[in-house]
Amino acid sequence: MIQPDCASFKTMVKSVSMKLSRVLRSQGFGSRKVCEARVRAGAVEVNGVVCDDPEIEVDPVGLELTVDGVVWAYREKAYVLVHKPVGYECSHHPSHHRSVFSLLPPPLLQRGVQCIGRLDQDTTGLLLFSDDGQFIHRMISPKKGVAKVYRATCADPLSDAMLDALRSGVLLNDEPAPIAALACEAIDTHTLRLSLAEGKYHQVKRMIAATGNRVVSLHREAIGHYDLPASLAPGEWRWLDDDDLNRLEQSWQSTMS
Ligand code: URA
Repeated sequence: MIQPDCASFKTMVKSVSMKLSRVLRSQGFGSRKVCEARVRAGAVEVNGVVCDDPEIEVDPVGLELTVDGVVWAYREKAYVLVHKPVGYECSHHPSHHRSVFSLLPPPLLQRGVQCIGRLDQDTTGLLLFSDDGQFIHRMISPKKGVAKVYRATCADPLSDAMLDALRSGVLLNDEPAPIAALACEAIDTHTLRLSLAEGKYHQVKRMIAATGNRVVSLHREAIGHYDLPASLAPGEWRWLDDDDLNRLEQSWQSTMS
């Protein structure tokens, strides 16, 4: 039932206000017409109260929308993470597997989130998405040197020579100079942890192949100071909160000094 005091949201107008239909559009709920129709149909609650006037002005900061029964906090920019499972490609138009974008809810796709760096279809682990171009640039720019931390299991046993080569630098095809890991340590006889400053095509697999070994499974554990949360199961996504974003921000600030 439409509640009578929808107009009371006018009292919430502060210095910055937006039409409700525009707020919905910014959050990925469809075109202006679609958003207006959803509001008129009574499918939208603002802070728990049904509001059927798409023209009503609201202050979006801190706003909690409910659209078709799903609660959706207003966010000016979207920052999310996914625990990528095996068998998903980091592409909107995958050739042989499913798309990682199919793991996200439709409003995030509508608002144009991009994946930040790519993982191969058979690589698992931490994958970030955002629609904030500056944030994406800071995360992937080799100049910022934000570490990408991988756990790689190899076909053959590790050797000291192999670990030394990864630390001091290996030459990859099409690269003018050897590339070194930021850090590299053995975890067990066949598994190592490798931190890289760049995100070149198949970089971990190619670096390990350059030492004469072969990756049989690859998992991204962390980006900078941010670890994949143990509570997030493969295939699940969630928003990054302010603490998570601060941790990621420290990752590039600390590598710039
Ligand atoms: N390096 C690789 O070889 N594959 C990945 O998916 C990520 C880094």
